[in-house]
Order: sequence, then C-alpha cells, then structure tokens
Amino acid sequence: MSKVQFHGEAVPLEMHKVRIVQKLNLPPIERRLEVMTAAGNNTFLLPNAEVFLDMLTDSGVNAMSDRQQAAMMVADDAYAGSATYTRLADKLTEIFGTDYFLPAHQGRACEHILAKTFVTPGTVVPMNYHFTTTKAHITLQGGTVEELVTDAGLAVTSDLPFKGDMDLGKLRAVIEKHGADKIAFVRVESGTNLIGGQPVSLQNMIDVRALCAEYGVLLVLDASLLADNLHFIKTREGAFKDLSIREITRKMADLYDVIYFSARKLGCARGGGICIRDRALYERMRGLVPLYEGFLTYGGMSVREMEAMTVGLDETMDEDMIDQGPQFIGYMVEELDKRGIPVITPAGGLGCHLDALRFVDHVPQAQYPAGALASALYIASGIRGMERGTLSEQREPDGTEIFSNMELVRLALPRRVFTLSQVKYAVDRISWLHENRRLIGGLIFFEEPEVLRFFYGRLKPVSDWQQKLVEKFRADFGDSL
Ligand code: F0G
Repeated sequence: MSKVQFHGEAVPLEMHKVRIVQKLNLPPIERRLEVMTAAGNNTFLLPNAEVFLDMLTDSGVNAMSDRQQAAMMVADDAYAGSATYTRLADKLTEIFGTDYFLPAHQGRACEHILAKTFVTPGTVVPMNYHFTTTKAHITLQGGTVEELVTDAGLAVTSDLPFKGDMDLGKLRAVIEKHGADKIAFVRVESGTNLIGGQPVSLQNMIDVRALCAEYGVLLVLDASLLADNLHFIKTREGAFKDLSIREITRKMADLYDVIYFSARKLGCARGGGICIRDRALYERMRGLVPLYEGFLTYGGMSVREMEAMTVGLDETMDEDMIDQGPQFIGYMVEELDKRGIPVITPAGGLGCHLDALRFVDHVPQAQYPAGALASALYIASGIRGMERGTLSEQREPDGTEIFSNMELVRLALPRRVFTLSQVKYAVDRISWLHENRRLIGGLIFFEEPEVLRFFYGRLKPVSDWQQKLVEKFRADFGDSL
C-alpha cells in the first residue's frame, strides 16, 4: 500500500498537502432525485453545482501542484519562437528521448492527426483495446480497428497483473491476414481505459515491438494513462522493480515510433501532443497542426497550460506523485471487494469500476444496467460516475442495440483531488446501494440522439423504483443528507 509502515490499519498515505480547496454541496436525496430526473438519468447532464463527489472522469480535473501554478505565471505568449514551447518540447525529449514534438489541443486531436496521416480506406489498426475517440477517428478515415487484448484481459474478475497486454499470436495472425502494407500502425494503449484502466506490461510492449520490427510496421503508444501504468510496472512486474520511474519510462519510450497523449490526464494539465522519433514521420504530420490546431508552437493550447504540463510531466517521474491515484483506487476496490460488491479486479488506474452486470443482475441489458446503477448511485450519494456499457455504444443502422461486453460504472479518482474520508463515504453509500440493489430498476430512452447518445440522451425509469429508493434511504438514514 504505502511506502510508510503503519503500526495499525494501513491506509494510503498522501505525500502532499492541500493548499487550495473548493467547497462542495451535498443536496438532500429528494433534491438529488429531482436533479437526476431533470438530467434524464444521464450523469453527463448533471449540473456540477448539484454534485457532491465528481467521479465522472480524471480528464482535465487532476489537482495541480504549487509548482505547476507558479510555472503558469512565466508563460511566454509569443506566437512564434515561444520559450514555453521550447521548455515543453525539451522536457518531452528528456523524458521520452524523442526528437520531435507536435502540440495539439487534446488527446483526440492527436488521434485525428495520426488517423489523417496514416489511415486510408481499407487499412487496419491493430490495438490492445479501442478508446472511443481513437476508434471514431480511424473509422472516419475508412480504416478498421482490430482489438487484440488477451482473452484473459476481458475477464471481469482476475488476479492477472497486466490485463491490458496484447495477444501476440492474434497480432501476428492479423498482420499475416491483411499483409503488413495494410497495417496503418499498431497502437498500444497504456492503462487500457475501457477495460477498467488495466495496465500493459513492459515485457509485452517489448514483444510487440519485436513483432512490429519483424514486419516493418509502425508502432504507436497512447500514453494518456501512462502515469498509472508506470506505477503498475514498478510494483507488479518483478523484472523491472529495481529501475526508477524515469528508467522504466525511457525503456518503454524507446520501443515506439510515435507517442501521443492527452495532457488532460498525463501531466495534470489540459492539452495534448505527439512525440515523434523520426524526422520524415514528423514532416508527414506537421502540416496538419497549423490547419486544425494552431501554430506549431501552441497547437490550440493556452501557453499557461503548456507550462503547467511541462512541470506536470516532470512531476510524473516522481514515484510519490504517480502512486497516489492507484493507491486510492486500490484501497477503494479492496474495501468494496471485501464487502462482496462486484468490482473489476485487480484494481487498475483511472478509477474504480463497478460491474453492473453482477450488481444489478436482474436489470436486462436492454434497460441499461450500468446507466441505471449510475443514476441510482447519484440519487443515493450525490456521487457522479460514468456509464461504460451499452448506453455508450451506438445502435446498428437498422436500430438493433449492440450489447456491450461489459456493463461498468466508472468512478474516476482524479489525482490528488479526493481525501480518504470521501473515498470511505463512497464505499459506505455503494454498500448501502448494494444491500438494496433489488430496488434498482431499468431505464428507457425518451430522447435518443443518433450519435453520441450517451452525452445528450435522456432516459426515464421503467417504474417508480427511484421513488422507492428514496423512501428506503429515508427509512434507513433518517434526516441525513
Ligand atoms: N486516449 C485515452 C486512453 C483516453 O482515455 C482519452 C480520453 C483520449 C485518448 C482522448 O483524450 O479527452 O484529451 O481528447 N479519455 C477521457 C476519459 C475522455 O474520460 O476517459 P482527450
């Protein structure tokens, strides 16, 4: 758990102190039901002023350090030749050893540039697992995605330390089937988001690199969730336990032709960028940055955020900093697991993931069990999570639902934001909800947009189950919030 030994109960220990705070509001449960009803049972539509603990995402909401805030004051606004750009590009060269850097306004903008440069109709992008925006950009260019995570990686409960690993046999078969010239690039996603923030082992990355070299195909790393992945390599992969975080990062980075990231996650700021090893590849992508993002020295980002990112990336090389998120998540997962509450195991990065297929196994997939659970959790606690299941999929053109492999409620723990007592509150309310899970019912759409329905769609309960939940809460908790 922590590097500090406890005499009694061991808990994750924060190696930072809080110096700026934001007041939170916990409305009473009756108000929460009203707010959730108005939001169409969609947590994306909840106003933040009515949210107690915002566990929707870690994107752009990690806490900054005092050094990051201070760096923002010395940003250089110059359009061309900005010193801010040089500091950021130099820091990335120092950390990843790549010579070229293209700034972009966030992670999906990097994906846009990569897809536009390398993906053409009929090409294929093999990857351990897709991320929503990645897949969208690849398919928009006429390419297809092949998901090659090991079968064991898809097991919801497991003690496998690296569930994000790519299956090398499947990768070889896909390259052989399509021919190396049809592979736009191979993509490895560190801290595999949609299967529960699960890490990729350094050994697997080394093996994937060898295979790509054998066929002469380009290898790309999505480093958005790299910080958590580094923590897991250091703590779970024995062969590399004696390397420092900087050494592990460099050993990993050396394997890739291109490394891109969302700085809304990596570096605790907001923005993104693409690091490139080879000048010719850099030149192929460079022209798109001024066209879609902004001039080459800022790529659509604020220079203040770029300064914060430079410091944030440097701080990511500090074990104390990157351990905090996974240790809190590990604690939360363990506490829930101990109480028999279905969660994705082992704990990954990014957040704790409730397994709605087991939590509310009486709610049919056609009634969005993960969406229903996310709604019930807000009503019971004021906590906002994110549905990661069938609701987040898109229907087939003929209207048929695509049932997701997993029905998850993601409870993100942005880095250095929550205290342990807030995590304990979450565990307590989730336990209560689990004891009363039979009260939770399904949801149906009454407003269903054709695209991105999970952002804008509105749903209603199939019965008066939410009212019953409120009544039970009052019976159990009296006039508590
Ligand atoms: N890649 C991964 C692995 C991500 O998790 C994300 C974003 C992106 C790319 C896109 O980056 O948001 O800066 O454009 N994930 C966020 C989330 C949205 O909530 O998990 P972006």
